[in-house]
Order: sequence, then C-alpha cells, then structure tokens
Amino acid sequence: MRFYLIGAGVINRTHAEAIYKIEGEEVIEIKVADPNPAALASFAERFPQVTTFTDAKEMLNEEPREDDIVIVGTPPFTHFPLSRMALESGRHTLCEKPLVMNREEAEALLEIAKANNRMLGCCSVRFLQVPKTDEVKRILNSGELGDVYKISFVFRGQRGRPGIEHQPESRWFLDKSKAAGGIVMDWGPYDFTLLNDMLQPVSVEVASAWTAKPETDIDPKDVVYDIEGHVGAMLKFQQASGKSVWVQYERASCTHGEPYYTVEIEGTKGAVKWSPYFETDQVLVKSDKNGEVITNENTIPYEGQIGYMDHPIHFFYQKVKGQQSPAVVNEQAVFNFLCLQSIYDAAASQQAVVLRRK
Ligand SMILES: NC(=O)c1ccc[n+]([C@@H]2O[C@H](COP(=O)([O-])OP(=O)(O)OC[C@H]3O[C@@H](n4cnc5c(N)ncnc54)[C@H](O)[C@@H]3O)[C@@H](O)[C@H]2O)c1
Repeated sequence: MRFYLIGAGVINRTHAEAIYKIEGEEVIEIKVADPNPAALASFAERFPQVTTFTDAKEMLNEEPREDDIVIVGTPPFTHFPLSRMALESGRHTLCEKPLVMNREEAEALLEIAKANNRMLGCCSVRFLQVPKTDEVKRILNSGELGDVYKISFVFRGQRGRPGIEHQPESRWFLDKSKAAGGIVMDWGPYDFTLLNDMLQPVSVEVASAWTAKPETDIDPKDVVYDIEGHVGAMLKFQQASGKSVWVQYERASCTHGEPYYTVEIEGTKGAVKWSPYFETDQVLVKSDKNGEVITNENTIPYEGQIGYMDHPIHFFYQKVKGQQSPAVVNEQAVFNFLCLQSIYDAAASQQAVVLRRK
C-alpha cells in the first residue's frame, strides 16, 4: 500500500510513525515530498526506507491505485492547492487541520473530491474513539443526565503559542495569511470535531463571539504576527430531535488570566466533567441524592495498541479499506471547518451566524 506524504516537517514525521504501525497488515511504501532540502534530508535520516522528492507534483505523477493515500502535512495556506492536486491525481486525501483557509476553499475542495470520486479527510479526528470520551458519550445518550442544556468547553493556557513557545522555528503559525488564524484554527478543529461527534447537530449557531491578541514581552517583531491568542463564543447546537444545547466555548494559547480547563456537560438530573485531551483520564459524574450533590469518580485510561497521535492515519486507512471507522470525510469534514470560520464571521460582524448541515 502506498502513502504519499506532502511535507517533511514535524507532523508528517508523526504520521510516518503511525503508517509503519499498519505494517503487518500491509506492505507499506512511503514517499515524501518537500521543497526544503534540509527538511527532506532529516526526514530521510529518520525514515531511511522512504523515497524523497522535492516536488509533490512529480511524486504524484504515477498511475494511481484504488487505495493510494496522500497526506497533506504542510502549512494551511498550501492545503487547498496541494489537496486539490492530490485529489485530481486520483487519490484519497487526508489533510492536516485546519482543512483550508476559508469557506470558499472548503466548498470548492468538497466539489473536487466528489468530481474525482475520492475521499477528502481531515486529521482533526485525533481525539475520537477514546475510551473516556466514549464513556461520556454513553452517559450523554443514556438519558441519565436528564435534559442536557449546557456544555462548558474551556481551555485556557497562559503561554502555549505555536511559533513562539512551541516550535519557534515554524513562524508561519503566527501569520494569518499562512495559518488561517490563531487558536481557533489550531485547536478549534479538534474541539469542533468532538462537539459535532457528540451532539450530531443539524445546525450550529454562533450567537456571539470575540477574539483577542494578548501581548507579551517576547512577541516577535521581525515577522508577521497577526493571529488571535484568545477566543470566546456562545453557540447553540440544534439537534434533529428539536432539542438544543448551549455551548460556552473558550480557548486561549495566551492569556494573562488564570490557566484552567473545564469540559462539563450539564443536564437537569446530573453533570459529567472530563478532559477529552491529555490533562486527566478522570470522568466525574455528579448527581443528586437527598438534596446533596454526589460525585462518582471513574478513571478510564487509554490502553490501545495505538495512541491518539496515530488516530488520523489509522481511521482514514480503515475508511479507505471500507472498514468501520470514525474518520471524518467530505461533507462532515467541511462542516467541522465551517464551524471555525463561523466563529470568526460572528466575531467580525458582531452578528449571529447560523450554519446548517446540508
Ligand atoms: N506540529 C504539530 O504538532 C502539529 C500537530 C497537529 C497538526 N499540525 C498541522 O500540520 C500542518 C503542518 O505543521 P508542521 O508543524 O508539520 O509544520 P512544519 O513547519 O514543521 O512543516 C511544514 C513543512 O511543509 C513543507 N512545505 C511547504 N510547502 C510545501 C509544498 N508545496 N510541498 C511540500 N512541502 C511543503 C515545508 O518545507 C515544511 O518542511 C499544519 O497544518 C499544522 O496545523 C501540526
């Protein structure tokens, strides 16, 4: 089976490791393209079995096979042209997050995937099918929380900006024309992939939103730095049943306020609190007994053969092979992206934005 990696940077190294874990089921062949010779050389040093190219077009210029997969692991401003090239080469394409730069690109890419009868996937599925979150989904769907009316989804870090505190060599993260945005486009893809998976909305309304760019003494002055570090929004997730759930959303990669995280679902009969990410494996379920709040504590570690970081590759591989898979492709991948775009639109216009699932 052939995997074509576009980009030899940080994330495609993670993806290469995930691909080699498929080996055993398949004979794996990896090709990688990057115009940066240093990136390509260090990639080849770490994975000597790969074939390297300086030009992605040249790499894709061979007869496609039915199960070929291209992985686009480059900065966001290149996602649309490179994913288009990959789909038009006749290959299923898994693109890194954020899927694209804007609404127009998202809609155009979906049409290209359909026209070429290939799947377009997004890597934002990393935190799906995780046991602790599956348990929360079970609780949510069991009715034991009563009428679910609100979710607090708050992740506030004080200093965690890619391009500054993390991966300072990849300054493109700070430039909106290259990265599509700041914390909304960096972590929002995971957040909204999860929320949409849990709530299965028929529409998402961003009732209000704001963004801010907190400043620090080490903000770079020699490069474009125009992305937000802090965002907040109130959203209404309308479900097919007619019920709606309000989501209070907040994310910060930079704030001078207190760091904290809370993901908590509240219903008329109980509440559940957990972290879908790395912070803790605890799932806290709260309910009432004789007028007092009681807390049921459960720790559900992730003990699978593969880790979170392997999910995007493994899920997409399963989907391409026609197996049961939580991979997010085509319309759903675009809907997840448009939730992020809608936050920016609501923040810019100071008007509500409603996004309906087609
Ligand atoms: N770094 C992470 O931890 C991480 C995690 C999840 C997702 N991502 C996402 O992965 C994508 C890439 O991020 P990264 O951290 O790997 O960036 P990076 O800066 O480490 O690497 C990007 C690579 O893409 C190459 N590139 C640029 N244009 C190209 C082209 N036309 N053809 C081939 N290669 C090209 C660059 O030369 C560079 O080597 C981004 O969308 C990012 O949001 C990154």
